[in-house]
Amino acid sequence: MNRRAISPVLTAGITLALTLTALTACSSSPDAPELTVSGGYMPRPVNDLGAGFLTVTNSGDTDDKLTSVTSDISDDITIHRTDRQTMREVKSLDIPAGGELDLGRGGNHLMFMNLKSRPEQGQKISIELHFEKADPIKAELPVKETNYNPAHH
Ligand code: CU
Repeated sequence: MNRRAISPVLTAGITLALTLTALTACSSSPDAPELTVSGGYMPRPVNDLGAGFLTVTNSGDTDDKLTSVTSDISDDITIHRTDRQTMREVKSLDIPAGGELDLGRGGNHLMFMNLKSRPEQGQKISIELHFEKADPIKAELPVKETNYNPAHH
């Protein structure tokens, strides 16, 4: 008898909880960064060092940052900024709202140290990009010829 009386109350409670969760998720989305990854590649490595290039586009209203990259192929992947042909490791790179982060030949790039295997041209390596705010994004980088440069095509 008591059980029957209680169960509608429980049901109402669960419904309310679900509704609140949905509202919270909705209310946060307009301010969130909306990131997509495109144009990625890795020039075929000639030793145990690899470079990675890609573009992260932010179509949201909030700035974000690329903070780290992980991959099965290397335990030591760093983000490098290039200034006047000198590169240095940085903790993050900005991905402005309504803009993009462009990693390309001669500029900022990802550096893969101590490659566990040396990928051949035509293969793909899997990476995961981590951001300050947005959820991680998985991407595949096709391995191109060693001196490949899309800017020359
Ligand atoms: Cu570098």
